[in-house]
Amino acid sequence: MTPPTSLLPDRICHRPEDDPIFALNREASARRAKGEKIINATVGSLLEDDGKLAVLPSVVEALHQVPAAAGAAYAPILGNPDFLKAATEDLLGGTPLADRTVAVATSGGLGAIRHAVSLFTEHRQAVVTSSFFWGPYTAVCDEHERDLRCFTMFDEQGALNVAALERTLAEVEPQGRLLVILNDPCHNPSGYSMSAADWAATVEVLTRAAQRVPLAVLCDVAYLVYARDLRRHFLRYLEPLTEHAIVAFAWSASKAFTQYGLRVGALIACTTDTTVHAPLRRAFLYSSRGTWSNVNAGGQHAITRCLTDPTVRARVDSERARIRTLLHARVDAFNAAARGTALKFPRYEGGFFICIFTDHAEPAAERLKEHGIYVVPQKGALRVALCSVAEADIPRLVETIDSLLREG
Ligand SMILES: Cc1ncc(COP(=O)(O)O)c(C=O)c1O
Repeated sequence: MTPPTSLLPDRICHRPEDDPIFALNREASARRAKGEKIINATVGSLLEDDGKLAVLPSVVEALHQVPAAAGAAYAPILGNPDFLKAATEDLLGGTPLADRTVAVATSGGLGAIRHAVSLFTEHRQAVVTSSFFWGPYTAVCDEHERDLRCFTMFDEQGALNVAALERTLAEVEPQGRLLVILNDPCHNPSGYSMSAADWAATVEVLTRAAQRVPLAVLCDVAYLVYARDLRRHFLRYLEPLTEHAIVAFAWSASKAFTQYGLRVGALIACTTDTTVHAPLRRAFLYSSRGTWSNVNAGGQHAITRCLTDPTVRARVDSERARIRTLLHARVDAFNAAARGTALKFPRYEGGFFICIFTDHAEPAAERLKEHGIYVVPQKGALRVALCSVAEADIPRLVETIDSLLREG
């Protein structure tokens, strides 16, 4: 065997330099700082109309009130039990799923995705997700030497392509087990929220696959609280699947409590097969020990209080209602401005992002910069982060994108 010539393993020699979204944001911010009228639709955080980060004061107060010893101590490796109970109750309370869980605190929703990829697949296996997906899924798969296999997300009519999911599962199935990541509601980047019929059809396909090979589905619910409909109809469909498969959720405090830097999240896995509960709990513990060791103790304490103290919770809910309204006004402004244009985009009811379909995303995004508009080009679409655009700027944004895409 010839000895390696580089000090670095081949695997890590060609990592991309920077997240392109952060680079675009830097460029847009620099131009705005010089006084240009820039619309920066790249940032994945909810901003007020004046461009400041939207923050929930009650959550900040809860963080400041964390007792010194609670914040300074190591949290249990699996997570603070009160936090895990509160996060589970927040997501699954009132459903039979709540009694079928094994949960672990994670470093945000990303940490939950990391654990799922690492623990629910074997080395070199493929993870299945939709063809539009949150970019870091690729990094998580690369880091763990897994492939990411995508099914075509939308059919010709713009509906969720459940038949494509079934075909992709059949192709990947010979590897011996399946992990499917679904980001819903308010999918990043497409903006799509699955209907009850989408969920019913998807679960049917997953159930069939689960009868052939061991299957885990990870529901990335990072944007759950921004859905137009907060009733969580998807839980009803997923519940019977827990009899055949692992149904896991990547729960995150980042968007729900506007605490992106706090890094508090949880992986909550449900199955009626109680024989796997104890080994899964041990695997969660071991993986956490081998990555971040334990999750921010003060963060878990404060978020638990926000979820369980009735007075604090009422304040959080009412402050969050305001920022939900802020976001939904932008969604409505987008839909109103787009009516009558040639723009093609998925059904959009709520969420931080919308994708405008185009086969020329890169050149279109470049030309939009000349008009002072920054969006993120993706394969087959422009990602527009309405979470960071003032409502008043939306007509100009939509009109400019429409006329530019019409020019071709
Ligand atoms: C689709 C999706 N999933 C998960 C996350 C997780 O975020 P965090 O790790 O900050 O909780 C994000 C954040 O942008 C996201 O867009």
